Amino acid sequence: MKVSGEMKLFQGFLPMFIVLFGLIITSVLVHAQNDQSGFISIDCGIDKGSTYTDNVTNINYVSDAEFTDSGEIHNILPIYNSFDIDTQITTLRSFPQNTRNCYTLKPTQGKGNRYLIRLRFMYGNYDFKEQLPEFDVYLGPDYWDTIKFNSSSKPVNMEIIHVLSSDYIHVCLVNTGRGTPLISAIELRLLAGNMYEETHFGSLYLFARVNFGSAFGTVRYEADKYDRLWSPISWPNSTYLYTLDKVYSGLFTTIDPPSEVMSDAITPKYPKESFKINWSPDNTSDKFFMYMHFAEIEILKINQKREFNIYLNGNLSYGPFSPLNHTTTTIYSGKPEITAPTYTLTINKTKNSTLPPIINALELYTLKKLPQNQTYDQDATALWSIKSNYKINIKSWQGDPCTTQEFVWEGIGCSYSDSEFPRIVSMNLSSSGLNGGIDPGIANLTMLHTLDLSNNNLTGYVPDFLSGLNFLTTLFLIGNNFVGPIPAELQAKANKGSLSLSFGSENTGDPTSSCNMNACKNKKGNKIIVPLISSVASLFVIMIALIAIWMIKKQKEHGRGLDIRKQQYTYSEVQSITDNFSVVLGKGGFGTVYHGIIGDTQVAVKMLSGSSLQGDKEFQAEAYLLLGIHHKNLISLVGYCNDENHKGIIYEFMANGNLESHLFADTTSSFLNWEERLQIVCDAAHGLEYLHHGCKPPIVHRDIKGTNILLNESFQAKLADFGLSKAFPTEGGTHISTAVAGTPGYLDPEYYTSTRLTEKSDVYSFGVVLLVVITGQPAITMYDNNNIHIHRLVNLKLAEGDINNIVDPRLQGDFDINSAWKAVELAMACVAHTPSRRPTMTEVVMELNDCLVVERACQETKPKKLTGLLSLNLESAYDPTPI
Ligand SMILES: *[C@@H]1O[C@H](CO)[C@@H](O)[C@H](O)[C@H]1NC(C)=O
Ligand SMILES: *[C@@H]1O[C@H](CO)[C@@H](O)[C@H](O)[C@H]1NC(C)=O
Ligand SMILES: *[C@@H]1O[C@H](CO)[C@@H](O)[C@H](O)[C@H]1NC(C)=O
Ligand SMILES: *[C@@H]1O[C@H](CO)[C@@H](O)[C@H](O)[C@H]1NC(C)=O
Ligand SMILES: *[C@@H]1O[C@H](CO)[C@@H](O)[C@H](O)[C@H]1NC(C)=O
Ligand SMILES: *[C@@H]1O[C@H](CO)[C@@H](O)[C@H](O)[C@H]1NC(C)=O
Ligand SMILES: *[C@@H]1O[C@H](CO)[C@@H](O)[C@H](O)[C@H]1NC(C)=O
Ligand SMILES: *[C@@H]1O[C@H](CO)[C@@H](O)[C@H](O)[C@H]1NC(C)=O
Repeated sequence: MKVSGEMKLFQGFLPMFIVLFGLIITSVLVHAQNDQSGFISIDCGIDKGSTYTDNVTNINYVSDAEFTDSGEIHNILPIYNSFDIDTQITTLRSFPQNTRNCYTLKPTQGKGNRYLIRLRFMYGNYDFKEQLPEFDVYLGPDYWDTIKFNSSSKPVNMEIIHVLSSDYIHVCLVNTGRGTPLISAIELRLLAGNMYEETHFGSLYLFARVNFGSAFGTVRYEADKYDRLWSPISWPNSTYLYTLDKVYSGLFTTIDPPSEVMSDAITPKYPKESFKINWSPDNTSDKFFMYMHFAEIEILKINQKREFNIYLNGNLSYGPFSPLNHTTTTIYSGKPEITAPTYTLTINKTKNSTLPPIINALELYTLKKLPQNQTYDQDATALWSIKSNYKINIKSWQGDPCTTQEFVWEGIGCSYSDSEFPRIVSMNLSSSGLNGGIDPGIANLTMLHTLDLSNNNLTGYVPDFLSGLNFLTTLFLIGNNFVGPIPAELQAKANKGSLSLSFGSENTGDPTSSCNMNACKNKKGNKIIVPLISSVASLFVIMIALIAIWMIKKQKEHGRGLDIRKQQYTYSEVQSITDNFSVVLGKGGFGTVYHGIIGDTQVAVKMLSGSSLQGDKEFQAEAYLLLGIHHKNLISLVGYCNDENHKGIIYEFMANGNLESHLFADTTSSFLNWEERLQIVCDAAHGLEYLHHGCKPPIVHRDIKGTNILLNESFQAKLADFGLSKAFPTEGGTHISTAVAGTPGYLDPEYYTSTRLTEKSDVYSFGVVLLVVITGQPAITMYDNNNIHIHRLVNLKLAEGDINNIVDPRLQGDFDINSAWKAVELAMACVAHTPSRRPTMTEVVMELNDCLVVERACQETKPKKLTGLLSLNLESAYDPTPI
C-alpha cells in the first residue's frame, strides 16, 4: 500500500505554483494521543460546577460559571429541544446587564499556539419574547462579527482559526441595543503547529466546511481529532461515491481531513459535465482561503483515468491533476484569493480523462484581521490575580484589561504606544473596599507610574517591592490600616521629589496636582526614549549591511588575489604543477585527481582517462564554459590542459576532502554535528540551484553524490564535477553508464523508463545525499541481511514515527527535532518516484534554510556564522550569470 500524498498550493490567478512541504510527522505524533488535552469545552448555562461527557461525541463539557462573572442561565423552550439537537445548545447564558460581558479562557498551551475557537448560539425563545436578538462578538479587543439569528430553532456557529498572541483568550459579547446577547457553547481546540499556516496572513474565519457525498450527519470528534465540524451537503445532479476502506492522509497534508470525510465524494452524474460551486462573500471585500480535499476512492480499471483542471472564476488555478488512490491530496490557496463579488469554482475533466472529476471535501475561510494586541501578559496576569484576591466586583473588570479604549477596566490606565502590547501604567482602586495586604501581583505591574490604594481597609506592612517599581511617580496609600513605617527607599524617593507619596492618616498637600505634574514628566521621558531606540536600531541595521558588503567585497578581492591564471596549461606544465603526478587525491568517474601547486596556491588536477577523451574543439568549448561559471558553492576551475593525448582540468584545492569521507570516517576529529551537516547540504543545494536556475542553459549535474560535495578548509561545501558528464562522455558511449556504474543508489529510478536525466534527476540524487547525511548510512545499506536502498529504509522507520530511529545515532540526539523532521520530509519529497512531485532546487534551498533557522533558534546563535550565511545569500543573488 502506498501512503503518500501532498499539499498543493492553489495559486489563485497566478500561472505558477509552489509546492509547500509541511511538517506532517509532528501531526502524526499528535494523532497518537487522541485525547482532549488541547480542548476546552464549555457548555454555557448548565449549573455552576457541573460537568458531563456528551454521549454522542464523548467530549467532556464543563459549566461556564468559572469563565465569566455575569449573566443568567436559561434553557431553550422544550419545543425546540428536538431529539437530534446537540445537548450543549439546549442551555444558554444571557447577559441582560452591562453593555459588554466576557468569557476569559486560559488554555494550557497559550501564546503562539494555533487554536480553533468555536462559539455556538441558539435562541430557542428562552425568554418567551419571540424576538431574535442581534449583538456583536469580540475576540479580545477586536470586533469579530455580528450575530444574527435566522429563526428561533436554528443554531448559529462561529469558528475561527487563530494564533494566540497572548496567554488569554477573551470572548466578549457586546449589546448594541438590538436585544440581549446570549451564548450556548464555547469550544477551543488546539491545532497542530503546522496546520493552516496561512494564519500568518491573519485569522481564518470559517465560511464553509463541507463533506461531499455523505449520507450521514456531521463528522466531528472522535473521527476528527481536532473536532472540526464537517457538514454533509447534498448536491444536485451528482453521483455519490464511497469506499469502505480507509483513506490515508498523505505524507504532506497537514490539514489532515479524517478518513470518515474523505471516504465519500461526489462526481457529476453526467460524465461530460463539470463540477461547479458558487458562493458570494458576505462582504465584497472579503478575501478567501480555500482548501480542497481530493482522494480517488473508486478502483480504476487499467484503461480508466481521472484527471481534471481546477478553475476559479474561469482562470486555471491548478491542474491537470489526478487524485491519488485512497490518499488525500489537499489543494489550497497559499495566499488570499483576490476579492470578487461572487466566486465560481469549476472542476473540468481533461480531454484524456475517461472519468468525470471528483471532490471529497472543501473548506472555505475568509481572512479576518484581528490587529489589536491584548494587554501584555504579565500585566494582565497581575490584574487577574488582584481581581481575584481582593474579590473585586467592578462590572467593567471583564475580558482584556486594556481592550479598546472604550472598554478599559475602570480605574486602570493603559499605554498603547510604548510597546507592541498595551501596558498598564496606572491603577486607581481608592475607596474600593479592599481588605488584606497589598497584593504581590502589583510587583509585576512594572510600567506603573500611578498607584492609588487610598481609603481602603488595607492592613499589614507596606511591602518593599513597591520601591522596585522604577516608573512609579505617584503612590497614595493614605486612609488604610498599615502597620509600621514606609520602606526607606520609598521615603527617600519621596524626599528627593521623584515620588509623590501619601501615607498615614494625614493628607500631604494636593495629590492631584503633584500627580499630574509627575505624569507629564514621565510621558515626556518616554517620548524621548522611543525615537532614540529606533534610531539606534536603524543604525544597527545599517552596520550589519555595511559589514555584509564589506565581507562580500573582501571575499571577492580575496578571490582575485589568488594570482593563478585561468587558462590553458601544457602537459609539461601540468607535470611540474603536480610534481610529476606524485600525490593522488582520488579517483573519479573521469580520471585520477592529483595534488598540485601553482605559485603558492594548492590545486587539484584531474587527468581524464584515455577513453573519456573527446574532440579538441568540444573539449575546448566545454572547458571555456566551465571556466565561466562562478559560485561560492561550485568548485572553481583554474585552468585546463588540452594537449593531443592528455586532457586535464585544474581545480581549486579543497582541504577537507569530500562529504562522505567525513560521514563514514571513524575518527571523531572530523565528526560533523547536525548544524554542520545542515550547513553543508545547504551550501551544496545553493550550488546545485545555481546550476539549474542561475545558468543559461541550465546545467544538469548528473552525478550528485556525497563524494562530489567537497569541503574547503572552513568546511564550506562546493559541488565538484558539474558539467563534466555532458562534456566528456565516457566508456559505453553515454555518460549514464558512468553514473550507473560509479554511484548506484543515487541514480534517478525514472531514468530507466525515460532514459533522460533532467534537473529533477539531480533533485532525486540530492535527496539521497540528504538521507545519507541525516541517517549516517550509505545510499545502499544492509537491513535484515538484504541490500536496501536508504529511501526504503527511512520509509520503514517513518512508520514508527520516532525521529530518533532515523537520524544518525552518532549525533546522540543532539539536534532539534523540528529541523530534523523538516529535513527528513524534504529528503523524502526529493526522492519521490514521480519527478514532477519532487521539489525544485529553489524550494529545496528555501526548506533547508528553514531547517537551519529552526536549528539555530535552538542553539546559541553564533553571530560569526550568521553573517557568513548572510553574505553567502547575497553573493549568490548577485553573481552574474555566465554566458
Ligand atoms: C444521552 O444522554 C441523555 C441525558 O444526558 C439521555 O437522555 C439520552 O438518552 C442519551 N442518549 C444516548 C444515545 O445514550
Ligand atoms: C435565513 O433565512 C432565509 C429565508 O428563510 C434563507 O434564505 C437564508 O438562507 C437563511 N440563512 C441562513 C444563514 O440560514
Ligand atoms: C468547464 O466545462 C464547462 C462545461 O463542460 C464549460 O462550459 C466551461 O467553459 C469549462 N470551463 C473552463 C474554464 O474551461
Ligand atoms: C493525452 O494522452 C496522450 C497519450 O497518453 C498524451 O500524449 C497527451 O500528452 C495527453 N494530453 C494531455 C493534454 O495530457
Ligand atoms: C502585536 O504584536 C505583534 C508581535 O506579537 C507585533 O508584531 C505587532 O506589531 C503588534 N501590533 C500592534 C498593533 O502593536
Ligand atoms: C482615584 O480616583 C478617585 C475617585 O475616583 C479620585 O478622586 C482620585 O483623584 C484618583 N486618584 C488619582 C491618583 O488620580
Ligand atoms: C510575576 O510574573 C512572573 C513572570 O511572569 C511570574 O512567574 C510570577 O508568578 C508573577 N507574580 C505574581 C505575584 O503574579
Ligand atoms: C477592615 O479589616 C479588619 C481586619 O481585617 C476588619 O476587622 C474590619 O471589619 C474591616 N473593615 C471594613 C470596613 O471592611
